[in-house]
Amino acid sequence: MAESEKSSALSALSTESRAFPPSEEFASQANATADWYDRADSDREGFWAEQADRLHWTKKWDTVLDWEPPFAKWFVGGELNVAYNCADRHVEAGNGDRVAIHWEGEPGDSRTITYADLQREVSKTANALTELGVGKGDRVAIQLPMIPEAVFSMLACARLGALHSVVFGGFSPGALKARIEDAEAKVLITSDGQYRRGKPAPMKENTDEAVEGTSIEKVLVVKRTETDVPWTEGRDVWWHDAVDGASDQHTPESFDSEHPLFILYTSGTTGKPKGILHTSGGYLTQSAYTHNVVFDHKPGESVYWCTADIGWVTGHTYIVYGPLANGATQVIYEGTPNTPHEGRHWEIVDKYKVSIYYTAPTLIRTFMKWGEDIPAKYDLSSLKVLGTVGEPINPEAWMWFREKIGKDNCPIVDTWWQTETGSQMIAPLPGVTATKPGSAMRALPGISATVVDDTGTPVGNGEGGYLVLDKPWPSMLRGIWGDTERYKDTYWSRFAEQGYYFAGDGAKYDDDGAIWLLGRVDDVMNISGHRISTTEVESALVSHPTVAEAAVVGASDETTGQGIVAFVILRGSASKDEAKGEEAIKALRDHVSKEIGPIAKPRQILVVEELPKTRSGKIMRRLLRDVAENRDVGDVSTLADSSVMDLISSGMSESKED
Ligand code: PRX
Repeated sequence: MAESEKSSALSALSTESRAFPPSEEFASQANATADWYDRADSDREGFWAEQADRLHWTKKWDTVLDWEPPFAKWFVGGELNVAYNCADRHVEAGNGDRVAIHWEGEPGDSRTITYADLQREVSKTANALTELGVGKGDRVAIQLPMIPEAVFSMLACARLGALHSVVFGGFSPGALKARIEDAEAKVLITSDGQYRRGKPAPMKENTDEAVEGTSIEKVLVVKRTETDVPWTEGRDVWWHDAVDGASDQHTPESFDSEHPLFILYTSGTTGKPKGILHTSGGYLTQSAYTHNVVFDHKPGESVYWCTADIGWVTGHTYIVYGPLANGATQVIYEGTPNTPHEGRHWEIVDKYKVSIYYTAPTLIRTFMKWGEDIPAKYDLSSLKVLGTVGEPINPEAWMWFREKIGKDNCPIVDTWWQTETGSQMIAPLPGVTATKPGSAMRALPGISATVVDDTGTPVGNGEGGYLVLDKPWPSMLRGIWGDTERYKDTYWSRFAEQGYYFAGDGAKYDDDGAIWLLGRVDDVMNISGHRISTTEVESALVSHPTVAEAAVVGASDETTGQGIVAFVILRGSASKDEAKGEEAIKALRDHVSKEIGPIAKPRQILVVEELPKTRSGKIMRRLLRDVAENRDVGDVSTLADSSVMDLISSGMSESKED
């Protein structure tokens, strides 16, 4: 990375001095207490052994941690069944009638699923998957809307020791296909269609395209929208035929603590998504622990709602595994937040008396835009804890969330973590840690995070650098599916000497030593809390016949955190005026949407004659970012041709005038 690129990523934040200590009332009833930090520091393994006792183990582990950097094994020798922990054991404890899921469909239909229902549904799904040939170690791809069957499918895989690979419903057939192929999945679970903004949209039509010519042997199809679907006899099976008729009795098998649980693909700095691998015992331990202490969750009392999609890691850990391991009662909502009206979320909070609400900064900024009058119409007095995840939250949005939603009465937990970390790592403990608007504060008890400079030396208070994790943690990724070298290279080579995990984020300590996240320092963009690599979008652009070369940057965006801005050079044969026209630009944006998914659609595409390159041919994205963010262009002295930037800048201002 170029020197100046780094310093812009690490630039210090404006000072934010407000702090909100916990109320005595909250502190007196909080699940965790301040002494947990020291207790965990003085005996880390003892602390995690205690957390693992939150779970039901069919065989207790012999050793808490086996650490041969960068390979960790947690709770070695232990055995458990993850799905049993998330359903059956709550029924056996006498809580079968407790609601596990209040499901709210987008068109207004709803379902109530108790823990006894959940146990039966997961058992039936496991029996049906067994019939379809799924067994221990097999991979099952899942692309489903936010319907209860998504949860049943994931837990059924866990119950059988099969790995699920959930692919976000908004990803294109090409993206799904690449993930199916990489994991060599045997079965795909999908639906006929999905509701999106009040209308049914086709789903199976797309998944059929993805499955063509892959390892998929069977496609299990949930009927959700009554959309007509193409059907391949012998391969396609309706959920209502295979699952509804299956037995609701299923004896769970025990699996090793390190048995793989799932693969989840995420963007890295190259075009090829990485299959992040998580295993069972350590992942579930940290998921259950963090869900309990960070949200101050009270089983049987709290009503919890995480607004993420099941296709992202937040949906995995904080809709499925963490809350269900803790016997939580939660809301799952299928649709978009403004369908049929912009008060939908607050109406749901009011309806189910939600007490814990966990969402993304981008959505909070959207709610701000829609106006405070909207939440003001509903009774939000049930709320006790508010949480955010996915990107840095700006202090203004944080304060709005606190005042307009939390009525100055709810601690806000800003939780930093990643697909790779599996569960939350840096976050305040409500009732314990004072919060500051925009800071994730400090590493959780049992977790160790540090901010270091280029040489791996910890920086002091008031200084910025790179965020590293300097000690292994139970829910850490165990590798990249099928690519050990890439695992070592991506996460462990940057600070190899010190043996630190490199998170790819910039961070700084404030004068009190609280941690402030500053965004990615690599070529990964963060669009509405979702990771998209610049290379992925560039590859999609150059796969269009009119594009010769493309450079993509993430430019700051008021609502989505970052927006995608693309600079493209057209092929000689593409007629310039025609190719620069609105239609042609729209075609390019649609092309990216088709190749990756609507989330990757560039906000702006600018046709340029040249791209700024160093003498060695590396595109200087830093300069393009300056243009995209309307700043004066920085140091151009390393450019092979320094006049290029003048042309691009003037092109940008022309395109704005259009
Ligand atoms: O840059 C950080 C940002 O999201 C990245 C991880 O993205 P992903 O694996 O998709 O997981 C998102 C949900 C856990 C991080 O490297 N990020 C996540 N949470 C925060 C954050 N940045 C600042 N503050 C956060 N609370």
